[in-house]
Amino acid sequence: MRCLFLIYCLLKSYVMATAQTAFSPTTYPHLFEQSLKPFYHGVASGDPLADRVIIWTKITPATPAKTIKGQWQMATDPAMKNLVKTGKFNTNAAKNYTVKIDVLGLQAGTTYYYQFMALGAKSLVGRTQTAPNQACEHLRFAVVSCSNYEAGYFNAYAKIAQRHDLDAVIHLGDYIYEYGQGGYADSTLKDQRKVQPKHEILSLEDYRTRYSIYRLDKDLRSVHQQHPFIVVWDDHETANDSYKGGAENHSDSEGSWANRHAIARQVYAEWLPIRGEAQSIYRKINYGNLADLILLDTRLEGREKQIKDIKDTQLYAENRTILGVNQREWFLKELKSSQAQWKIVGNQVIFAEFNIGWAAAAIPGYTAEQLESRFLDIWDGYPAERTKIIDFLKTNQINNVVFLTGDFHTTFAFDIAQRPTVWSEKGKQPDYLPETGVGSVAVEFVSPSITSGNFGEQLGEMRAKMLEYQMNKPLPNGINPNPHMKYADLTRHGYYILDLTKQKAQADWYFVDTIKQVSDNEVFTEAWFTNDKDNHLQKSATPSANKKQSKVPAPK
Ligand SMILES: [Fe+2]
Repeated sequence: MRCLFLIYCLLKSYVMATAQTAFSPTTYPHLFEQSLKPFYHGVASGDPLADRVIIWTKITPATPAKTIKGQWQMATDPAMKNLVKTGKFNTNAAKNYTVKIDVLGLQAGTTYYYQFMALGAKSLVGRTQTAPNQACEHLRFAVVSCSNYEAGYFNAYAKIAQRHDLDAVIHLGDYIYEYGQGGYADSTLKDQRKVQPKHEILSLEDYRTRYSIYRLDKDLRSVHQQHPFIVVWDDHETANDSYKGGAENHSDSEGSWANRHAIARQVYAEWLPIRGEAQSIYRKINYGNLADLILLDTRLEGREKQIKDIKDTQLYAENRTILGVNQREWFLKELKSSQAQWKIVGNQVIFAEFNIGWAAAAIPGYTAEQLESRFLDIWDGYPAERTKIIDFLKTNQINNVVFLTGDFHTTFAFDIAQRPTVWSEKGKQPDYLPETGVGSVAVEFVSPSITSGNFGEQLGEMRAKMLEYQMNKPLPNGINPNPHMKYADLTRHGYYILDLTKQKAQADWYFVDTIKQVSDNEVFTEAWFTNDKDNHLQKSATPSANKKQSKVPAPK
């Protein structure tokens, strides 16, 4: 017995030592807000449908527990008096003590409040909303991407949390970044924000710890508390420039890609309020007769490896794919069968043709070939598949398609045409008139980053502003590389509001004044819209109007 007791003591001290070194309220008390114990990471909701929504929380027990039992409840008021649904849950270490409930049997187009109870404590109250089922006059979404913890403060998330007439927040990915401390940081921040773990994330515990520190950020916690999220991943939820079979930022010395990829999916499903296990994330979310959100995965589902040289003939192969055959077939079917007025495509990387000859032209001694440069991690690297999609829209006379895009850390608004400009293919004419938008088949709104580095930070404000001006002006050879680019901002951070009515689909860009310190200031800059069935952009002098009714916020 004594021998067993000694072994028990040794094991216990080992567990305690491990717990002490892990990322926990004990080891990092300044990051874990004690008043929220054990629900330090707050609450979240997502993937709303007309009759259901996912609600989420995470419990951090003081000592490892085999199973934690708790309850959840949903009400129509923030005081949680008028309960409409209640239930029980179990969670455990295998789920990283996360809790995800699909609350069924709800009313369409309705605001709800929810809360969790466990270990003798209550979580924050969250606010969420179901999607409408049929008649719908007005939808408003905040659209975001690219929130790098070490690059700055999440002031844009805080501003979105202060809005009370949004249907949901659409997050287009790069919700976390995988690098180690200092790997992709802004060293000029007022107070440095250091990620955990210190090294690049590779293991199951690494990925969990990275999500944990992000979700302790009070602004990210607050925006999740106030709005349901509709999320897709981009590359950094696994590793930079990922594709189905690997990533730029993954080498064999870091273990198998299949294993890393599986870990990243598992932890994404644990920590984000997405329905299911995230084995595939492409899906449709209907918002009544006004909109279908068609969400794509251009990273892990079927993307072939990036090609680096625009002269490589494989780049133009007929069957080259960023979606994979199954996802493409599904996407085209959804576009064609959608009964909703607006087909909103949640997409990671820039879909419109995007020539970067302006960058080459800034370098002394450039060649004519360099003026045709492209980024090949975006849809420009998969031209045949983009052609198929644009042809499909034309052939089937599908109107009102709006691409929402993240990834690039910059603001753009594009018309989408098959041939917006003519370059080296002599004898062919553009099929697009920039003055009128004739030839455009869809539009695209690209979100600035929440914090991730942009051209302004990489090149300096002055040079970035010069490039911004030059991007859709004629080059020295007389060709305008991007006549379909209506708006560009390379230096600011923030988000846009996607406002949908029967008349138009509009994006209003809001930028925060700084990410280098906590700030509550934002400014509206420009708004661009397409009228019903126009399929091309016009500038609006004013931002879209708020909804007639404002919701009561969830209590802080
Ligand atoms: Fe990013």
